[in-house]
Amino acid sequence: MTVSKITVVGAGHVGASCAQRLAEKELAREVVMIDVVEGVPQGKGLDQWESAPIEGFDTLVTGANDYEPVAGSEIVIVTAGIARKPGMSRDDLLRTNADIMAKVSAEIKRVAPDTILIVVSNPLDVMSYVAMKTTGFPRERVIGMAGVLDTGRYRSFIALELDVSVADIQALVLGGHGDTMVPLASYTSVSGIPLSQLLPQDRIDALVERTRKGGAEIVGFLKTGSAYYAPSSAVVQMVDAIVKDKRRILPCAAWLEGEYGMNDLFLGVPCKLGAGGLVEIVEVDLTAAERAELAKSAASVHETMRTLA
Ligand code: NAI
Ligand code: 2OP
Repeated sequence: MTVSKITVVGAGHVGASCAQRLAEKELAREVVMIDVVEGVPQGKGLDQWESAPIEGFDTLVTGANDYEPVAGSEIVIVTAGIARKPGMSRDDLLRTNADIMAKVSAEIKRVAPDTILIVVSNPLDVMSYVAMKTTGFPRERVIGMAGVLDTGRYRSFIALELDVSVADIQALVLGGHGDTMVPLASYTSVSGIPLSQLLPQDRIDALVERTRKGGAEIVGFLKTGSAYYAPSSAVVQMVDAIVKDKRRILPCAAWLEGEYGMNDLFLGVPCKLGAGGLVEIVEVDLTAAERAELAKSAASVHETMRTLA
């Protein structure tokens, strides 16, 4: 199954990797990359298209600096933004990226009013809110990517620790994309065996802590940038579920309207993804401690939203 066009806004590390993965999986007939930097989306698009005969895909990859080629996109992924520069506070970064997100979202709404938006730019939960507020799209069509990445990191660490296949590990990481994320040990299993039967609590706690700091661990190695291989895989898994109407349950940032007792914010929760985007938010039972952690995570997202107001 395939759609006719998917756009990726921001042809940087995450955006270009998303485009390449989408093309190699032939999830669309055409993938368009958009960036403000002249020549970069065009050059990366052409380079990727030239790999098509070798890799054996027929998805055309193109690039542009204006938004007209975005028209007709069934899905638009937004990775545009800047990284924190020396002397820049977190709040400065937040405002700069919020301005970029507002501009980009307005253009997307103008040329592709029926598209599904997948937001990637950070701070993720708040950028998803800016995108929804600017476009006025219903919550079914604005979804943030973070939980699939955070869960992927958690699963990869558990596989290393237990020396088992990643394929057998099921897990859920909820909450905001940051230090307050909530990896749910109670919903983590290895081929159905609860993780608590395979690892002592102090090892589980250490894996949870490593997951919370997973983004920073990569930045610590790369120094001048952040992760993009796993993030682009995570985006493409969400796209795959939507394009193929798979109805997969994946942790994503969704706009909450009473679910988990919360309102008026994007937060990572289990989401059923299929045709049209967000099909349903799945509510799972949480322990009192997990509920408290999720509330703390929500408070942190609300606080960042207030900074923008
Ligand atoms: P990058 O710096 O490599 O790429 C960002 C691109 O956005 C650049 O090419 C830049 O020219 C472009 N850009 C800036 N302003 C623009 C505008 N107005 N319109 C179009 N393009 C514009 O950064 P990278 O590594 O690709 O990360 C992108 C974003 O994704 C960052 O905000 C990063 O923090 C976030 N991220 C989020 C993750 C998540 O789990 N949600 C995971 C990884 C990254
Ligand atoms: C990450 O978790 C930077 O949000 C990005 O790698």
